[in-house]
Amino acid sequence: MRTLTQVDITSLRVLLRVDYNVPMDKNRNILDDFKIKNSLPTLKYILKRAKQVIIMSHLGRPDGKVVKELRMDKVAVRLMKFVGRNVAKLDDCVDVVIPNEKVVLLENLRFHKEEKENNESFAKKLASHADVFVNDAFGVSHREHASVVGVAKFLPSCAGLLVQKEVENLNFSKAKSPLVVIMAGSKLSTKFPIINALLPKVDRLLLGGAMIFTFYKALGFEIGNSLCEDNHLVTAKLLLNNEKIILPRDVVVASDINENAKSKIVDSNKIPKKWVGVDVGEETINDFKKELKNAKTVFWNGPLGIYEIEKFAKATNELAEILSKLKAKVIIGGGDIVAAIDKLGMKDKFDFVSTGGGASLELIQKGTLPGLEVLKN
Ligand code: 3PG
Repeated sequence: MRTLTQVDITSLRVLLRVDYNVPMDKNRNILDDFKIKNSLPTLKYILKRAKQVIIMSHLGRPDGKVVKELRMDKVAVRLMKFVGRNVAKLDDCVDVVIPNEKVVLLENLRFHKEEKENNESFAKKLASHADVFVNDAFGVSHREHASVVGVAKFLPSCAGLLVQKEVENLNFSKAKSPLVVIMAGSKLSTKFPIINALLPKVDRLLLGGAMIFTFYKALGFEIGNSLCEDNHLVTAKLLLNNEKIILPRDVVVASDINENAKSKIVDSNKIPKKWVGVDVGEETINDFKKELKNAKTVFWNGPLGIYEIEKFAKATNELAEILSKLKAKVIIGGGDIVAAIDKLGMKDKFDFVSTGGGASLELIQKGTLPGLEVLKN
């Protein structure tokens, strides 16, 4: 993959794809500008050398229509604050006259259905804005969209500094061992391909989240009303033959999934009928602590329990505390876990927090992404 520092961009016009798909509240205030902040090293690098930067991004999923609430104006204001200079925000991303301004921000790419269709003439129009293309939108590099894949056909292209950093951090083949991975989440079906890809590289794989109940059922345990994927019982059983995998030995069960429900900790093979598993227990956290003690690299994906409900977020919060103090390289990746860490205000407490949800998992699973492949040629 060609990277920004390998390309001479002096006095050129740079088309920069970023992922400014930031969470917003109902009044369209930006709730978290982590993705914007993470694009700044690339942006500053380009501003020092290039003649002009034309920034493009998507925001939300407007499905090819103009949605007023998904305009990029709020993003432009936040960006202006960070770069300390004017950002010329345009009302569209194609068929526009690019003004003679150093920083230009195009309107939401997904207002055009051609973006998601990877339409060639749409990609060509985007490419016509500049001399060179830089992809720094790691979070969307798993999508074969015009602004990610299509434009690379028409311009010399390279990866930005954030994309480079993401790829380096999520490549566990070179990770210092012992490598301990904590894989949690609700569905084994979605996590299975990633678990499979990681198993040959890890020393220990600690499991959490609702997918553990599929494993318990495969072992013949009562799981009450806990979530279970019956069509994945065989997969779970097969995985359990692998000695690297560690299942929680106790769980928090609740009478219902709400803050006022009754809850208690039980051994994993003693889940009462009608109760539902909502978190992992204290003994499990102690087990995890022991497993993590000598780790040199840790990757954490997925909250251990229903972190959106404070009462069931205990194990996730405790693990975050443990990992923030660990003398190991700690990498956090995947949508939900990043949201959980953000809720705790701990995003800056780890060595690397990925800006990609689906993209980070797809990269681990497949070793590459469509948006990275096109930067090779
Ligand atoms: C994200 O927020 O994960 C990326 O911006 C990708 O968004 P998408 O899932 O709508 O393609």
